[in-house]
Amino acid sequence: MKIINVVGARPNFMKIAPLIHEYKKQPEIETLLVHTGQHYDEKMSKLFFEDLGIPEPDINLEVGSLSHAVQTAEIMKRFEPVLLKERPDLVLVVGDVNSTIACALVASKLDIKVAHVEAGLRSFDRSMPEEINRVLTDAISDYLFTTEPSAKENLLKEGISEEKIYFVGNVMIDTLLKHRQEAINSKVLEMLEVKPKDYAVLTLHRPSNVDNPAVLKGIMEAIEEISRHIKVIFPVHPRTEKALSLYTQRTKDERRLVLIKPLGYLDFLKLMSEARLVLTDSGGMQEETTILGIPCLTLRNNTERPITIDAGTNLIVGSDKQKIIDSAMRILDSASVIFPSVALWDGKAAERIVSILKDCV
Ligand code: UD1
Repeated sequence: MKIINVVGARPNFMKIAPLIHEYKKQPEIETLLVHTGQHYDEKMSKLFFEDLGIPEPDINLEVGSLSHAVQTAEIMKRFEPVLLKERPDLVLVVGDVNSTIACALVASKLDIKVAHVEAGLRSFDRSMPEEINRVLTDAISDYLFTTEPSAKENLLKEGISEEKIYFVGNVMIDTLLKHRQEAINSKVLEMLEVKPKDYAVLTLHRPSNVDNPAVLKGIMEAIEEISRHIKVIFPVHPRTEKALSLYTQRTKDERRLVLIKPLGYLDFLKLMSEARLVLTDSGGMQEETTILGIPCLTLRNNTERPITIDAGTNLIVGSDKQKIIDSAMRILDSASVIFPSVALWDGKAAERIVSILKDCV
């Protein structure tokens, strides 16, 4: 059996890593790893391959950054000849980025089976490019692997037949649990001169937050206010770096709001694990903070990962300045700690996926 696995952007790497390691236990499965090149910076891509022990991709399509239509089309154009040459039994895609839908679509048109890992998540906000990618990828997938119960309900409502849906848990949490111990040795706190529980972590990269100057200004003003009470460490995504250069930080105090380059997986895991509070618009970090028991304020108006709200670690605060400040202050004033357990987020999702694929394809 031959499986082509696809990665493209940063959040894909921690999702594919446990699968790549699991395939090694199954000699009857031949696998190839295709990197679309959607993310290409050393800090957005190569560092993750090193930290997670993912082998060099067999094929790199080297598409780079382009508009959504051109990027998706370029990936499709470059992926089709790979499938025609390799003729795999299955293409496995993860998450919700442009590489996910582009490769799923090419495979589906060539009558090659598609597996989607992290299927069924819905924000119900079609202005998010990821929501379009999720809905379309799920519609053409043959194996839909879900991370939480809401996903199955969403898929059934969209007319996906039940026998295609498999609740397997969360491969990104497989990676977190596997590397948690190793991340303890990271020296990132010393490097940033912070002490455990004495700083907050901020990440921002959603177009709805960073591409709109008024929204970004409101968020940054809230962060400046929060940084008067707790030091804020802000690893800046390349997309956000460009937007921030337009924003004049009048009152920014460099010692309290610390802008740094994106970190690798292990350093970032350590930074998140020891934080007092996380503020983010990332999807994956909402899940990671849930397992780490770290309070997370989500700077969006919705989430496609409602289980993180039910677990009690995540709160949706949108981009309203006062709401962000008030919610952060409540967390800083409270001593309560939550360590939720989430069904099947147990480090064995990749094992379940590979055992299902082995028997089905
Ligand atoms: C993409 C995904 C998003 C995911 C995010 C994680 C889509 C639609 N979006 O968004 O779901 O949460 O990745 O990071 O697929 N850039 C670099 N170097 C890189 C990559 C990007 O400088 O290695 C810059 C480029 O200027 C580019 C911009 O960042 O134009 C945005 O990159 P892009 O891949 O288009 O989208 P992301 O915002 O990263």
